[in-house]
Amino acid sequence: MKSAKELTRQIRELAKKKNAIILAHNYQISEVQDLADLTGDSLALSIQASKTDADIIVFCGVHFMAEAASIVCPDKKVIIPVEDAGCAMADMLTAQQLRQFKKEHPGVPVVTYVNSSAEVKAESDICCTSANAIQVVKWTRAPEVIMTPDKNLAAWVRRHTDQIVHAWNGYCPIHDELTVEAVKHAMTEHPDAVLMAHPECPEEVLELAHVVRSTSGMLKYAAETDYEEYIVATEVGLLHPLKKQNPDKKFYPASTEMICKDMKKTGLQQILNALENEEPVVKVEEKIREKAFKAVERMMQVPRD
Ligand code: 13P
Ligand code: SF4
Repeated sequence: MKSAKELTRQIRELAKKKNAIILAHNYQISEVQDLADLTGDSLALSIQASKTDADIIVFCGVHFMAEAASIVCPDKKVIIPVEDAGCAMADMLTAQQLRQFKKEHPGVPVVTYVNSSAEVKAESDICCTSANAIQVVKWTRAPEVIMTPDKNLAAWVRRHTDQIVHAWNGYCPIHDELTVEAVKHAMTEHPDAVLMAHPECPEEVLELAHVVRSTSGMLKYAAETDYEEYIVATEVGLLHPLKKQNPDKKFYPASTEMICKDMKKTGLQQILNALENEEPVVKVEEKIREKAFKAVERMMQVPRD
């Protein structure tokens, strides 16, 4: 078996030769984050994907993220190293279900979280991410909106606007299972720590949080504040960049059980294989892509926090 150092060297060499860029989400395993050209949250990575002049995008994340890159960069080859790295939340809503939900709320604009399939995005008016969901809903200026697929993100938005929010009943199992008891336990263990939580957590957990942020929002907050200790209520992969970027500070997981198995499927060997073979390719069918692109493009016009 090759060492991580050797695999990293081979991947970097091949990426240069093929003019490929390697993107990694903040939840990827440390070796993958360290190897990537760019790391970030879903929105940052979609924006970077749209700006790159690389011929190949290797997306180390889950399927909807690679699809989002294919939506904004139709001329580039988008590769996902592990084909079945999916998102349980995205799988909780199909385009057919959304069409039915829209019939129940005729004329109401649909705001869809990027954690969704291209088909669902194509049925939506505008996308949002955890970093800009409140701004996007306010930006619609609609008295009522449909929010899909995350009920927790929708509840968080509802608390920050006067607009009526009709939420789809989807959720991220990793965040939704975080209990108030687990968080209170972490707070008792680390009484001086600030609690940062992702808006995919249940409402009762968000009520305890000092700040609610996307993954990149948490990185920014930790870098810009002077606290010494932070409790992190999101997938444990984020602890790696937090610790790396703030070596003098301490970060504790709200629960060590917050592990997204799909985000951990990608390893260095899979990245090397994918680059060598230039597959599995993620390509969104043009008819769907055009419609989904409109929803993503609208989102990109909305300022983020
Ligand atoms: P971010 O956009 O905050 O990185 O979150 C993506 C995600 O999948 C959260 O579970
Ligand atoms: Fe999907 Fe949750 Fe995994 Fe994020 S952590 S990719 S929302 S299953």
